Amino acid sequence: RTARTRYLGIAVAVLATSLALTAESPAVAAGTDGLGAPGQGDPYFPLAGNGGYTTAHYDLDLAYDPATRRLDATEALTARATQQLTRFDLDLSGLTVRSVRVNGRTARWTRAGQELVITPRKSLRKGESFRVDLSYGGVPETVTDPDGSPDGWIPTDDGAFVAGEPQGAMSWFAADNDPVDKASYTFAITVPAGYTAVANGVLTSQRTTRGKTTFRWRQAEPMASYLATATVGKFNVQRYTTASGIPVYNAVDPREAADAAPALAQIPAILDWESNLFGRYPFSAAGAIVDQAPDVGYALETQTRPIYDRAPDVGTVVHETAHQWFGDSVSLTSWQDIWLNEGFATYTEWLWEEQHGGQSTQATFDGYYARPATSSLWAFPTGDPGEGANIFASPVYTRGAMTLQKLRTAVGDAHFFSILKTWAGSHRYGNGTTAQFIALSEKVSGRKLGDLFHTWLYTAGKPAQP
Ligand code: ARG
Ligand code: ZN
Repeated sequence: RTARTRYLGIAVAVLATSLALTAESPAVAAGTDGLGAPGQGDPYFPLAGNGGYTTAHYDLDLAYDPATRRLDATEALTARATQQLTRFDLDLSGLTVRSVRVNGRTARWTRAGQELVITPRKSLRKGESFRVDLSYGGVPETVTDPDGSPDGWIPTDDGAFVAGEPQGAMSWFAADNDPVDKASYTFAITVPAGYTAVANGVLTSQRTTRGKTTFRWRQAEPMASYLATATVGKFNVQRYTTASGIPVYNAVDPREAADAAPALAQIPAILDWESNLFGRYPFSAAGAIVDQAPDVGYALETQTRPIYDRAPDVGTVVHETAHQWFGDSVSLTSWQDIWLNEGFATYTEWLWEEQHGGQSTQATFDGYYARPATSSLWAFPTGDPGEGANIFASPVYTRGAMTLQKLRTAVGDAHFFSILKTWAGSHRYGNGTTAQFIALSEKVSGRKLGDLFHTWLYTAGKPAQP
């Protein structure tokens, strides 16, 4: 959730040549030339992700020194070729690559912008599983998003705040940086003793020798690369298991601890309440990272363990926790559909209020509907934000939630809550599209909902009827 909305309107620098090389280009799509495409063809982020293979597991071994801000890493990636590959790309920006091996043999590589282009000695057969070993290092360069926000490896006064939506993962590891390609992860993060390194999933070991501590984390369930973190800082650590059996690991900057305590205390209640609404919690760990990162301006639903740039309020924790179902377990297929993440997480905040002594979701809807036609809320259609710079603005969040309120009043509570649960369940650990959500809503409710979604998702300007 963003603390402030930005319209800096920084254009995505997309070269015409890169468009010509995306997976949509017939020359590359066929896969007969053996060249893996440099992007997945997402219209908002054409170079994000790569063609020709899917990843299975990332093993990241990182050493970070907060004093020099230097990161040194080895990465082992396992993947499977979906076409014959004489050459393929990973996304990596900044840093210096020292070596690349494919299936144990030294490979040639070149760098071109965010593309790390790898040519294995021996081309990979379609269907072949392969392993890439990388060694790289340097001072990571924070990625600036189209909306002007910092993203990726963001240094702080006591470590680094690490968040990757939508494009920042490539600032600290080489990835197939697209939410359609999810993988499992293991992390070993070595930091000077006294610092804590927090990643996703379960802490499997923590060892200090010769003044350095290595934290090992395992994220077993599939994860999109933008949801990975390896945040470093001086943190208070709190660990417990909820009554429902979910292990919680909270890492909190001591300067934010007092302010964060009331919202963090609600985590077990929020997990139970959302599990009840959306179905079983999808992951084997939970928690929070509360950092002090003054120039960031947002929180992110890093998988299992959302990251906050300051002490969150309860609404923000409800929002990031809702993303564990909507965004993390059920992920986007295309960034254009970002309302499937943000509209749902925002609506969950409205529901929390309604069911915890606050105003009804209808009253919240009415309050927003009262905004004048000139309000930024109606600046572009929810389901078609138009460009990467718009994906975190109020037409996606608030009008996205308003769309769900419209759906709820149209189909009634029983069908509405069944739709949410079925959506989370049937796409668990996978991906979804707006078209699939509309089809599911029509199937569960037995109604034609095309006009409703057309008006609320795809029509420019303020809808004429509330
Ligand atoms: N998904 C986050 C949230 O609403 C927001 C991330 C904003 N990121 C950004 N680069 N502006 O929970
Ligand atoms: Zn969100």
